[in-house]
Amino acid sequence: MPVDILTTALFEGTDSVPGWEYIKTYAPLALALGSIKYYFRGATNTWERDLHGKVYLLTGGTSGVGAHIAYELAMKGAQVILLVRSMEDIWVVDFVNDLREKTNNILIYAEECDLNSLYSVRKFATKWLDNQPPRRLDGVICCAAEAIPSGRQRQFTIDGVEKQLGINYFSHYHLLTLLGPSLRVQPPDRDVRVVLATCTSQAIGTVDLDDLLWKSKTYPKNQPWKIYGTSKLLLGLFAREYQKRISEYERKDGMKCNVTINLVNPGIMRTPSTRRVLSMGTLWGLFLYLILYPIWYLFLKSARQGAQSFYFALFAPIIPKIEGGNYIQECKINPKVRKEYNDFELQKELFDKTEKIIEELEKKSALVRNSQKSASEKKREKRKENKKKADLAVQPKSSEELDSKLNKLRNELGIGINRVPDNLPLFPSENERKNISSSGSSSGSSATGSTSKAQSSKRKNKK
Ligand SMILES: NC(=O)c1ccc[n+]([C@@H]2O[C@H](COP(=O)([O-])OP(=O)(O)OC[C@H]3O[C@@H](n4cnc5c(N)ncnc54)[C@H](OP(=O)(O)O)[C@@H]3O)[C@@H](O)[C@H]2O)c1
Repeated sequence: MPVDILTTALFEGTDSVPGWEYIKTYAPLALALGSIKYYFRGATNTWERDLHGKVYLLTGGTSGVGAHIAYELAMKGAQVILLVRSMEDIWVVDFVNDLREKTNNILIYAEECDLNSLYSVRKFATKWLDNQPPRRLDGVICCAAEAIPSGRQRQFTIDGVEKQLGINYFSHYHLLTLLGPSLRVQPPDRDVRVVLATCTSQAIGTVDLDDLLWKSKTYPKNQPWKIYGTSKLLLGLFAREYQKRISEYERKDGMKCNVTINLVNPGIMRTPSTRRVLSMGTLWGLFLYLILYPIWYLFLKSARQGAQSFYFALFAPIIPKIEGGNYIQECKINPKVRKEYNDFELQKELFDKTEKIIEELEKKSALVRNSQKSASEKKREKRKENKKKADLAVQPKSSEELDSKLNKLRNELGIGINRVPDNLPLFPSENERKNISSSGSSSGSSATGSTSKAQSSKRKNKK
């Protein structure tokens, strides 16, 4: 068919080609759009790696680029442990089942590790480390992130840290440093790769060692990406320092730690976080986002396209052969990084300061948790005591308690329902019994009141 059209155009002139007028008008536009789309889709990873038997931890694996990476790793036969914010979310169960079915790989699990709470991160890491022999670990991929749309008030994590800084930097720092023993203990021939998602917005980030929590600075409500960028910049500097510390670690067997930590900038993608930021988290914004979707489609990558640089970082054979701490973009190592990436003193100071901040935050949160626990524990104990009092199987401690239990039993058995007072004695006298059967509940209770007291005191005297 195209050959026919070409020969017609060649020998009979272009005007004899059907629809030539349309082709002439729209073909250049279609070609231009196609070229733009092709250019912005970015580079494609060409490396492959067999991942059967390999174990990966993945944050942010339930959405966007992380979900794509989870799928790819599972397809290649790896065991993937998704670190999710809550295990009570029914959607997570569906997501895991769906992924297992699609990839025909049942080795997909989810573990709770809410990056909104340093305690939750610690709980997960402790559980992971508490195993003998140490668990296999071939890599940690950190994709989870929080991007707050503009116009919102400052939001906090459970530990009181600005949310973007808390989730994107502090929690990932905490997770990776706590997992340090697990990373360092892997056999030296194991190619362990840690990959952290970063972003171009790190270019507008700032490092203020005296105010890492952004407490003394005003919250840039209309430019929250400044804090987002800062969180990614801090993460990058942490990666450099952590790589250095892991490489310098002296193993007992004298071998080198084969762990590399790299940063990946996937480029801007059409993922839920981008949608939320572009729509400013509002309904009318979402409407506008949908209307402008052709533009996003043309210029922004899909999650699959954004994942390509992650695959490069995870599969390319060059990675374990070179020192880590690289900035990977478009399936290439980008040497043009911010000057702070070469400031080793700054990185060291940042690493140590962050460690101290996390320690203090954890202590404060533990105190809050304990005070909340003791209040709720008191309530629970009171409830337990009341239940015990009403429980017929528990031996009564006083004669009053015995009477009350027996009367409860009588009422339950229907003997004098609602007419038997709590203080009726165990063996009522003839008169008392008559009183109960002849009078109503109110008179019954008043008639038996005094005698029961007498009976109780009799029993006490006997004792
Ligand atoms: N999108 C872009 O254009 C772009 C550009 C450059 C860099 N990046 C980076 O690429 C990574 C992935 O971005 P994305 O757009 O694909 O993200 P996304 O679709 O918005 O997904 C974010 C993920 O993080 C998880 N997450 C958020 N808060 C969490 C918490 N407290 N505990 C545990 N998990 C939590 C989410 O879990 P839930 O499913 O439970 O919400 C979700 O799986 C991010 O690090 C981002 O900074 C993105």
